[in-house]
Amino acid sequence: MRPVVIAANWKMHTTPADAGELAVAIAGATRQPGVIRVICPPYLSLDAVRRAVADEGIEVGAQNVHHEASGAFTGEVSAAMLAGLATWVILGHSERRRDAGETDALVNRKLARALASGLRPIVCVGEQLADRDAGTAEAVVADQVRGCLAGLDAETLLAGGLVIAYEPVWAIGTGRTASGADAAAMSAAIRSVLAQVGSPALAEATPVLYGGSVTAANVGEFLIEPSIDGALVGGASLKPDEMAGIVARAAVTATARAVVDAASRPAGGGA
Ligand code: 13P
Repeated sequence: MRPVVIAANWKMHTTPADAGELAVAIAGATRQPGVIRVICPPYLSLDAVRRAVADEGIEVGAQNVHHEASGAFTGEVSAAMLAGLATWVILGHSERRRDAGETDALVNRKLARALASGLRPIVCVGEQLADRDAGTAEAVVADQVRGCLAGLDAETLLAGGLVIAYEPVWAIGTGRTASGADAAAMSAAIRSVLAQVGSPALAEATPVLYGGSVTAANVGEFLIEPSIDGALVGGASLKPDEMAGIVARAAVTATARAVVDAASRPAGGGA
C-alpha cells in the first residue's frame, strides 16, 4: 500500500529566528506511527527547521527549485544549494503558477532537475473554479499532469518517489474544500494519466495528496478515500494543534493500510 504523507507548506511565513521553535512544537504534537511528515519552510528557514527536527523523523522540503543547475539567474536557488538542507521539493504550486508565471513546461524542467538531484518532488496540479464550473476540471488536471511529466520515464519517476498534490485553486486559502468524493475522482483521473504516460506500476505507487483549506476538522473526509494518500497543508500547518489533529487522523489511515498489507501477505511467508 502507498505511504501516508502529510506535508506542511509554510509558504512565506516564519523567519530563521522563529521557524525552529515552530518546527519543534509541530514535531512534539505529531509523533504518530506510520505517517511521513514533511515541513516545507521558506528557503531561509530550511536550516533552522532541519536542525530543530533532526532527531524527530520529520523530513524537510523546499517550496521551489530552479530548473538549471547553475548560472546567471539572479535571486534563484539551485538544487545543489539545497543539498544537506532539504530532501523534498514542492514544484508548480498554483501560487507560483499565478505569481511567477510557471507553466507545465517549466515545472517539467524543474521536475527533471529535482529527480536528477535526489530531491523528492511534490508536483502540484489543480483546476480553476471556472474549469470546475465548466465541467472540464479532470481534463485540465490531466493536461497538467501530462505536461509536467513529459519525456520522463516511469522508472525514473518511480525511483525518485514522485508525489502529486491535487490542489483545486478555488480551495486554497478560501476555507472552501473539494468534497472527498470529488478529490477521489480526481485522484483516479490522475492515476489513469500516470498509467498512460508512465506505467501501471507508477500509477499504483504514486501518492496523491489533497490540498486546499485542509484542517484537523476536515482531513478525515479526504483520508477516508483509498485513493487519497495524505495532504499538502497550508494555513493549518502553521498551527501545532491543527497539525496534531491532521497527523493523528493520518495515522489512523496509515495503521489501517498496514493491517491490509499484512493480511494480503501470503500466510507463513517469511521476510
Ligand atoms: P491552505 O491550506 O492555506 O488552503 O493552502 C493550501 C496550499 O496551497 C498548500 O500547498
